[in-house]
Amino acid sequence: MHRKLLCSLAMVGLLAASGAASADAEAGKATASGVCASCHGPKGISGADTFPNLAGQKKTYLVSALKAYRDKTRNNPIMNGMAASLTDQQIDDLAAYYSSLKASE
Ligand code: HEC
Repeated sequence: MHRKLLCSLAMVGLLAASGAASADAEAGKATASGVCASCHGPKGISGADTFPNLAGQKKTYLVSALKAYRDKTRNNPIMNGMAASLTDQQIDDLAAYYSSLKASE
């Protein structure tokens, strides 16, 4: 009984550790729905011509675009602000999420 509990705790720990080390689309989804969806759409398809679609975009491209906005090597007042406080982990998660979505419905 006790051993079983310890074993499941260890499993949870392992899962949490592996989640932190690699891109996590679920974590990306949480950030995306809270922050990015108002412009880029709830499923990465934007409702306005001035906001790009992100759904189905290549993961590597999304990571480099977000890092470029964060580092201000790509300049856009809105996105520089959006990316300023994102960590590398959040950028990986967001890229995993948006690249996993269908490009069109
Ligand atoms: C207030 C509106 C707004 C919000 C909120 C917003 N964006 Fe953007 N986003 C834009 C606009 C406008 C552009 C186009 C900027 C440009 O011309 O470079 C853009 C561009 C991008 C691009 C580059 C797309 C490409 O094809 O090169 C990425 C990636 C991106 N946004 C991700 C995000 C993420 C992730 C979030 C949430 C953390 C977010 N955006 C929140 C308005 C927004």
